[in-house]
Amino acid sequence: MSITILGIESSCDDTSASVIRDEFLLSNVMSSQDVHEKYGGVVPELASRAHQQNILPVVDRAIKLANISLGEIDAIAFTRGPGLLGSLLVGTSFAKGLSISLGKPLIDVNHLQGHILSHFIKVPGRENLQPTFPYLSLLVSGGHTQIVRVDSHSSFTVIGETIDDAVGEAFDKCAKIMGLGYPGGPVVDKLAKEGDPKAFTFSKPKVAGLNYSFSGVKTSLLYFLRDRVAENPDFVNENKNDLCASFQSTLIEILMDKLIKAVKETGISEITIAGGVSANSGLRDRITLEGYKRGWKTYIPEFRFTTDNAAMIAIAGYYKFASGHVTPPDIVPVSRSLDYH
Ligand code: KG4
Ligand code: ZN
Repeated sequence: MSITILGIESSCDDTSASVIRDEFLLSNVMSSQDVHEKYGGVVPELASRAHQQNILPVVDRAIKLANISLGEIDAIAFTRGPGLLGSLLVGTSFAKGLSISLGKPLIDVNHLQGHILSHFIKVPGRENLQPTFPYLSLLVSGGHTQIVRVDSHSSFTVIGETIDDAVGEAFDKCAKIMGLGYPGGPVVDKLAKEGDPKAFTFSKPKVAGLNYSFSGVKTSLLYFLRDRVAENPDFVNENKNDLCASFQSTLIEILMDKLIKAVKETGISEITIAGGVSANSGLRDRITLEGYKRGWKTYIPEFRFTTDNAAMIAIAGYYKFASGHVTPPDIVPVSRSLDYH
């Protein structure tokens, strides 16, 4: 018997709803919030209000595009956390209301688990591009940077993670320091394409084991620019492309050093990348190249499944539902990181 899951994602500034039948994508609707751009970052209060306005039309559209009736939904999966509490409350409350009115179960999903499992979403032409267990996931987003060993759809072990900033934060801060706007990652990526990655060097951290650190490299950029701008006020503008290319290349080097180490230590060479920063063209190219050189099997997600989306929540919910998981109706969202379960 087939299983149809409605997924709802509202952890940060994207309102999204998706319908998945078994592992196949039927719809994935996103509504991004432009309201934050002029503040240079997500304003939590504005994000929750925008979610309130967007959630009903987004869910409605996802159901219509999937061409199903509400009665065909078997369960409602929603992001429980981590994320902004006010934003999470909107998605959680909506999911609860719908669950009660339809008499269908709720499935709570860990947002990070969603990113990691996004590789299992089946779309036409990519039905057979799913990783096999065990695999390593390089999870790189605005809030997290982890290397996770994945042994099954429900077994995740964090074997390395950042001890301070996430790599997405480093991209965003780089763009902020250079006055390039928010979110910074896509702008830095675009400008880096026309720049020389070896033009400037920034210090790389020395962190034990498989852990990461990104606060030092950000400070290194800040001081470097402060000194150069004192000599030439137009320095940033004149060197935008080279600065972005060099900074991005340093971040990618940091990510790759530990990933290569993780492959050596675990003997696992089935490699996936996930999360917003996995949209970065430099990182995608580098993983592909490194995989080719080292005999890894690499999985690069479609762009629409890299940044926050409800399809990843629906697929993670699908596996939980299929394995008999039941979420109680008094569940509450959680802003901090959740254990993988
Ligand atoms: O996964 P995501 O949408 O939200 C979180 O769960 O955090 O990730 C957002 C992050 C932001 O820091 C954004 O700048 C970064 O992903 N990002 C990128 C690119 N596209 C989005 N970073 C580098 N290059 C990109 N092309
Ligand atoms: Zn995310």
